[in-house]
Formats: sequence, structure tokens, C-alpha cells
Amino acid sequence: MTLPATLPETLSAALSARPRRWLVTGAAGFIGSHLVEVLLHAGQNVVALDNFSTGHQRNLDEVLGGLPAEAAARLEFVEGDIRDLATCARVCTGVDVVLHQAALGSVPRSLADPITSHDSNVNGFLNMLVAARDAGVGRFVYAASSSTYGDSPNLPKVEDVIGKPLSPYAVTKYINELYADVFGRCYGLPCVGLRYFNVFGARQDPEGAYAAVIPRWARALLLGETVQINGDGQTSRDFCYVDNAVQANLLAGLTERTDAVNTVYNVAAHRQTSLNQLFAAMRDELVKRFPDIAGARAHYRDFRAGDVRHSLADITRAQTLLGYAPTHDVSRGLAEAMNWYVARFAPATLA
Ligand SMILES: NC(=O)c1ccc[n+]([C@@H]2O[C@H](COP(=O)([O-])OP(=O)(O)OC[C@H]3O[C@@H](n4cnc5c(N)ncnc54)[C@H](O)[C@@H]3O)[C@@H](O)[C@H]2O)c1
Repeated sequence: MTLPATLPETLSAALSARPRRWLVTGAAGFIGSHLVEVLLHAGQNVVALDNFSTGHQRNLDEVLGGLPAEAAARLEFVEGDIRDLATCARVCTGVDVVLHQAALGSVPRSLADPITSHDSNVNGFLNMLVAARDAGVGRFVYAASSSTYGDSPNLPKVEDVIGKPLSPYAVTKYINELYADVFGRCYGLPCVGLRYFNVFGARQDPEGAYAAVIPRWARALLLGETVQINGDGQTSRDFCYVDNAVQANLLAGLTERTDAVNTVYNVAAHRQTSLNQLFAAMRDELVKRFPDIAGARAHYRDFRAGDVRHSLADITRAQTLLGYAPTHDVSRGLAEAMNWYVARFAPATLA
């Protein structure tokens, strides 16, 4: 069994101690596919659910292609929708830990179509809670979001101080936290919410109107297109490499501390990076391989509706209660992530 070198030793030991049955929803998506990959590498049994609304079969193929046949055989994939309670009940059967990632991401998507975002992110979420409760799962870890901080001006963001949501997406993610809290109190379902801060890495979708900033810019830089920056470039984010998010999920799924469940955690790198700094860092990373990219320039356009201006996470709670220790800062994460975007977009003769 090969465990990723970046997993803390305590986590590797807990995983090795006994194989569990994990359910990963949103498994064909970006973060979900990384969770599936690490769990299978770690000798675990994985049920995976996705409806392919924003995820792709190619993500699962890529994961399975890098695994020995014995590990790949421990994956049971179900194509289905969390908006269907019977499907949720089916996949929760016999599961020890749920890592619930399935949702429609993107603030602009939710502004364009709030009903569909609500349907998956709230109704689907409630179905998953009910199914997990009824199946008696031991832990329900779910993808929350830094968007819950809304219009709060406080920096760094501390879990207990939130503002008003700035988008329908943010409302859905906050409702998730409220429901999870109530399922903990009323039914004893042990829940943990992970407020991700701009997660990035391989397999994050670079295509489409709702692509996140790093994949969108990586694609543009590699294809020689203009990079579009929303606003003045001083907008900042706490970009979090996907390995850090995977680590947080596994810690939350396995912790035996009773004071570490039924709460929410910031999952980030605790480093503020402006969009201008991000653009420079990505260009510098790619210039090492493609000197022509040195001439790439960004075009500034209007600020985007619903966006928060600055974001920086306090990660003390995750460090203290879960033992979270991010292994990748932005530059190390970008170096690894760019390998994937180069393989996908750069002409073979240049790569
Ligand atoms: N990537 C980030 O920076 C970030 C930040 C904050 C929160 N999140 C949350 O993390 C989770 C994973 O995000 P991601 O970046 O991997 O996005 P993604 O779009 O790559 O993955 C989401 C997956 O969920 C699936 N899905 C959506 N609706 C579904 C439904 N009704 N039934 C079954 N499957 C469904 C999609 O097909 C997709 O494969 C989401 O809940 C998202 O809101 C992500």
C-alpha cells in the first residue's frame, strides 16, 4: 500500500489500522476525485457518487489509471443524484465515514440560476443528512465554504464571526452548516464542516463560464490568450492546495476527539495572495518551461458581482483540534498544479 508522502504520520497510521468504508459524493469532480485517489491508495473501501453535472468520467479514469488493479477494485461507483433520497440511502448503506462534496459550486452560477443551486446544495444536502442518519454512519464530513463569511470585514476570518451572505451560493453553504449543526444536536449525527478557501490543483476544471481563477488563467497562459482579472487585481484570497484540503477531510473523518466534531473549520493555507500576485506567480512558474509566457499581460475588467474583496483564514482551530498541518503553500501548490495544466494544454513539442 502506498500512502501519499505528504500525509501526516498519525493519519497514515490511523488509515493503516483498519480499512473503513467511505462514501465520497461529488467523486467525479475536482476535490472529490482527489479524496477517492488518496483513500484507495490508503487501502480503504470507497463508494463514490456523482451525477456528472460538473464532474467528469475522465477524472475518475485518471485516478484509476494510476492505481494498481487491487486498489481500483475497492472503488464502487454509483452514477446518481443527491436530489434523490433513495439514491442517498443506497450509497450510505454500511458506510463508516461520509465525505460529502457534491454541490454546484460558483457564485456566478448561483446568481444566474439560484433555484438549481439551491436544489443540489440545500435539498440534496438535506437528503444526504437524512440518509446518513438513517444508515447510522459514524461521521459526516461536508464541504462548507469561505463564502459564509460574506460581508464580514474581519481579517483573518475566524470561524465564529461571519457576516451576511453575498450570493445565493453563500446562502446554500450557510444553510448546510445550520442543518448539520441541528442533525448533530437532534439526532446525534457527528458532523464536521470544512470551510474551504479557494482550493486549487490538478483536475480543477478550466473550461466553461464558471471555471475558477487558477485553472482559467493556466489555460489562458498556455494557449496564449489574454488573462482577464476582475477588478483592480488587489482582491485577495487564501489559496489552498488540494492536498491540504484532502488532509483536512481525512483528519475530520478519523478524529476521535469528541470536542472536534459538530463544528466547522477553516481549511486554507493562512496566506493572503492578491490576484496581481497570483498572476505573477503563475506566469513565473510557467516561464520556466515556456520563456515566451514572460510577455503575457493581464487585462483588467469590472469587479464581479457577489465577490468578497479580501479573504484570509485563521486556521488555529483546525490546527489545534484536528492536528491540521498544511503541507503546501501557494508556490509549492502552483508548481505541482501547473504540471497537470501543462500536460493538458501545452503543445507536445513544447512540454
Ligand atoms: N473548489 C473550491 O475552491 C471550493 C471552495 C469552497 C467550497 N467548495 C465546495 O467543495 C465541493 C467540491 O467542489 P469542487 O471544486 O470539487 O467542485 P466540482 O464541481 O469539481 O465537484 C462537484 C461534484 O459534485 C457533483 N454534483 C453536483 N451536483 C450533484 C448532484 N445533485 N448529485 C450528485 N453529484 C453532484 C458534480 O458533478 C461534481 O463532480 C463543493 O461542495 C463546493 O461547493 C469548493
